[in-house]
Amino acid sequence: MATLAQGPEPLPLDVLDISKPQDWLEYRDILDRFRMMRAAGPLHWCPESEYGPYWSVVTHQHIQEVEGRPDIFSSAWDKGGITIFDRKPDAAEPPLPMFIAMDRPQHTGQRRTVSPAFTPAEMLRHEPHIRRRTAELLDSLPEGESFDWVDKVSIELTTGMLAILFDFPWEDRRLLTKWSDNATDIEAFGDPEKEKHRWEVMYEMAACFTELWNERKDREPRPDLISMMIHSEATRNMTPQEYMGNLVLLIVGGNDTTRNTMSGTVMVQKDHPDGWARMMADPSLIPNGVSELIRWQTPLAHMRRTALQDFEVGGRIIRAGDKVVMWYLSANRDETVFDEADRFIPERENARRHLSFGFGIHRCVGARLAELQIGVLLEEMQKRRMRVELVGAPVRVFSSFVHGYRQLPVVMRRG
Ligand code: HEM
Repeated sequence: MATLAQGPEPLPLDVLDISKPQDWLEYRDILDRFRMMRAAGPLHWCPESEYGPYWSVVTHQHIQEVEGRPDIFSSAWDKGGITIFDRKPDAAEPPLPMFIAMDRPQHTGQRRTVSPAFTPAEMLRHEPHIRRRTAELLDSLPEGESFDWVDKVSIELTTGMLAILFDFPWEDRRLLTKWSDNATDIEAFGDPEKEKHRWEVMYEMAACFTELWNERKDREPRPDLISMMIHSEATRNMTPQEYMGNLVLLIVGGNDTTRNTMSGTVMVQKDHPDGWARMMADPSLIPNGVSELIRWQTPLAHMRRTALQDFEVGGRIIRAGDKVVMWYLSANRDETVFDEADRFIPERENARRHLSFGFGIHRCVGARLAELQIGVLLEEMQKRRMRVELVGAPVRVFSSFVHGYRQLPVVMRRG
């Protein structure tokens, strides 16, 4: 192990460089490495990695400090964007402009446009539909036979929800899954052939959504996201690139994340059967259990910022231009905030303090919708006394950004 003496606490590089997708695929000591980092200090400089040098912020308090200063720590795509991956300077295509990767003032207006789709009143409107669809799906699952929970449940439910939000043709809804997976396919980054294919799929998506835009642009305003963008000052004059960027944002934002929390239900039943059993025995624990599940799973492992000027956080000086990676997965296991943080405890009093949705001006706009969908899933599983058992090796996502599963072979039983 090469030891580094960067800053006050020397840590070996193979602990510090937590970004390698292969390590996440194999889940090589990920949680232990974060634990070691937290014990050694809130911020760590990793001098080299396949994504270049970067800071890791690993504690709950210090992630909030970074996110609380969007004037210093930029999300803007032209400064570096929101994930650890840098855009290649020679990339053939321009980056997609989306408001998650914008700073004030553009961010403010574009976020305001889509926010009305996620108000409590909208959630009430959606709930019966979500519940009916979830119930139908659960009732269609085979009992006592092996199937893939990710495909049959997590993907199906989240994709269906997006189709409702966009008022997207129902029979084509799996296209949304394809486009979301394509947008986050990090194996394609840096491989010119795969990258070319990625863009072809992206343009297929753009063509389809442009058609929907054109069909709806002269109609009365409706509560779907496309109609909202058409009728808002801040978004009606978006360039095609901006339109595509914001679509990708909403599709990816609402897809991988909720999907992987739903997949987390299988792993919780396997690893924390006691906590799960208490929640299933007492459905009044479900609302808090939803937050606990989102904390425990943490479907996005990190978000990234770029420092616009020198600034001190947690006793370390971050230099202008430095890449700052905020590891939500580590913050959600921070032992100074969450007791027995590795356990799933549906009664946990401060479960809602998790940082899975981020913090500050970019905090997830779809949080309520995600909580609604996951809550309905848990309630409907509870009513059916469903038990889901993992019967094969889980396949994780090859990424240090999306934290979740590609496949979970399970058998479901009732009663
Ligand atoms: C459990 C599910 C979800 C998780 C864990 C999650 C997580 C996140 C995170 C970490 C951010 C960035 C926060 C930051 O930079 O501070 C974010 C932003 C965002 N999310 Fe979610 N998300 C979830 C569900 C959803 C859903 C269902 C939608 C919409 C359909 C959505 C749409 C968005 C959008 C549009 C943004 C950008 C907000 C902004 O920049 O102002 N998310 N989400």
